[in-house]
Amino acid sequence: MNQFIAGLPKVELHLHIEGSLEPELMFALAERNQIAIPYRSPEEVRAAYQFHNLQSFLDIYYQGANVLIHEQDFYDLTWAYLLRCKADNVVHTEIFFDPQTHTERGIAFETVVHGIHRALEQGRTELGISSQLILCFLRHLDQDAAFRTLEQAMPHRDKIIGVGLDSSELGHPPEKFKDVFEKALEAGFLTVAHAGEEGPSQNIDNTLDLLGATRVDHGVRCVEDPALVARLIREQVPLTVCPLSNLKLKVFESMRDHNIVELLRKELCVTINSDDPAYFGGYMTDNFQAVADAHPMSREEIAQFTFNAIMASFISEEEKQRLTQLTRNYLESF
Ligand code: ADE
Ligand code: ZN
Repeated sequence: MNQFIAGLPKVELHLHIEGSLEPELMFALAERNQIAIPYRSPEEVRAAYQFHNLQSFLDIYYQGANVLIHEQDFYDLTWAYLLRCKADNVVHTEIFFDPQTHTERGIAFETVVHGIHRALEQGRTELGISSQLILCFLRHLDQDAAFRTLEQAMPHRDKIIGVGLDSSELGHPPEKFKDVFEKALEAGFLTVAHAGEEGPSQNIDNTLDLLGATRVDHGVRCVEDPALVARLIREQVPLTVCPLSNLKLKVFESMRDHNIVELLRKELCVTINSDDPAYFGGYMTDNFQAVADAHPMSREEIAQFTFNAIMASFISEEEKQRLTQLTRNYLESF
C-alpha cells in the first residue's frame, strides 16, 4: 500500500505556507536577514516542537515567521514547498497565507504576495503543479484589521481566489467576522474558514450560514452534532482534514482515535491535508500513510480522498475532469 500511496495523484486544500518553513530554511533566512532566533541549531528547533494545544503551536509558529522579510524569502519558502509537492505527486495545491503576520511587522502586503505568486507561477511552468492562493484573516485580531487587510488584497484579485479564517478558534467564533466575509463575497472572493478544530460544532454551522463558506477547514468536531453530520452529507460540504496536525495538537489522542475514515465511510466529503508540515512532521504522503497505517483501507477508499479533494477544489470543471481521469487511470493501473 505504501507504493500505491506514494504514487497516488494528490490535491492539497489546506496548507499554510508559513507552516512549511523547515528549520533549515528558518536558520538560513535568519542568517541572511540578521534576525536573532532563540535556537542554536535546526535540531534544537525541531526539539522545541512539542505542542499541547493549538495556542502552544501558534506562539512558536508566529515567532518562526519573523525571519521572512524580503520578497525572495517568500519565494524561497514557497518554492521549497512546491518541490515537496512534486516529490509527493501533489498535482494541485490551494495554499493559505497570513498577510497580517507580516504586515503587523512592517512588511508590505505586496512583498508577501509577489514572492509567493512568483514561485507558484514557476511551479506551474516548471513542475506542472497548478495552484490557487487563499488569504487568511487572523481571528485573534479584530474585524477592523481584517477589513484593512481585505482592502490591501483588492488590487490582487487576479492572484487571490478566496479568503479564509485561521489562528485561535476558542474565543474567536465565526460570527465575529460576518461583515468582512460579506464584503469579501461581494468583491467576488470565495470563502472558507477553520472551524470545529478545537472549537464546538456550532462554529461549523455558523461558518456555513454566516460566512458563506464553500469548504470547512478541519471540521472534525462535527461528530458532536448528528444533525450537522447529516447536513454535511446532504450538502456534500468538503472538510479539509489534517490528520498529523490533529495528532500533534492533541485534537485526537492517537491516529487510531481519529475519525477521518469513519467520516469517509459515512460519505462525507473529507480530504487529507498537511496544514503546517514543517511543524507537524509530515507532508501529503506522510499524512495519507499515517491514516492508512492506523485504519486499514482499500485502494478505492484511499483514492476517494483525492476524488473528494478534486471535487472540493477551486478549479474549472474541465480541470476537475482531467484530474479525476488521471486518478482513475492510476487506480485502474495498479
Ligand atoms: N494557522 C496555522 N495552522 C493553523 C491551524 N491548524 N489552526 C488554526 N490556525 C492555524
Ligand atoms: Zn490550518
